[in-house]
Amino acid sequence: MTVLWFTGLSGAGKTTLAKAVRARLPSYSFILDGDDLREGLNQDLGFAEAHRLENVRRVAEVAKLMVKAGVLPIVALISPSRQGRALARGIIGQGFTEIFIHAPLAVCEERDPKGLYAKARRGEIRYFTGIDAPYEPPLAPELMIDTVCNSVEACADKVLGFYGLPSLRSRA
Ligand SMILES: Nc1ncnc2c1ncn2[C@@H]1O[C@H](COP(=O)(O)OP(=O)(O)OP(=O)(O)O)[C@@H](O)[C@H]1O
Ligand SMILES: [Mg+2]
Repeated sequence: MTVLWFTGLSGAGKTTLAKAVRARLPSYSFILDGDDLREGLNQDLGFAEAHRLENVRRVAEVAKLMVKAGVLPIVALISPSRQGRALARGIIGQGFTEIFIHAPLAVCEERDPKGLYAKARRGEIRYFTGIDAPYEPPLAPELMIDTVCNSVEACADKVLGFYGLPSLRSRA
């Protein structure tokens, strides 16, 4: 069973695409979103490197449990470091599918859907990925999705098409 692991900058479109993909899949899929997890399970973690790694590790372990339960997890997590994603790949194993949700930093900053880039530029938040914390793009992701040149619908189609997963929309 597969784990769809969306990695990318804040504002690249991970949550938006996870929802679009989820909406086209049968009910056995579930979104593990970084924001939701940080509100509960990972609320004790900050954004320094060690905490980000622990964040990734916990999410990978939860995804692994979901797979055991027959659920298809869609993980939407910045997961900025190659080390962290390698850790997740090691935990999940065969089904781990790294999907690079890509938009250049300038575009993400322009979108700034949560106003976080503006806060980071004003120095109101620290360790913000892309501003004062690094994002290491995947070197060999299973799939890369360009969210600048493609609409949300087209991006979701690409993810589903890659797996040969049936799109509810195209069946209609
Ligand atoms: N093709 C596209 N795919 C996804 N999002 C897009 C696309 N085109 C424009 N957008 C816009 O980009 C923004 C992406 O925000 P979103 O919250 O999904 O990012 P995120 O990667 O989940 O960020 P974060 O890591 O902060 O949670 C939204 O405002 C969305 O409408
Ligand atoms: Mg998000």
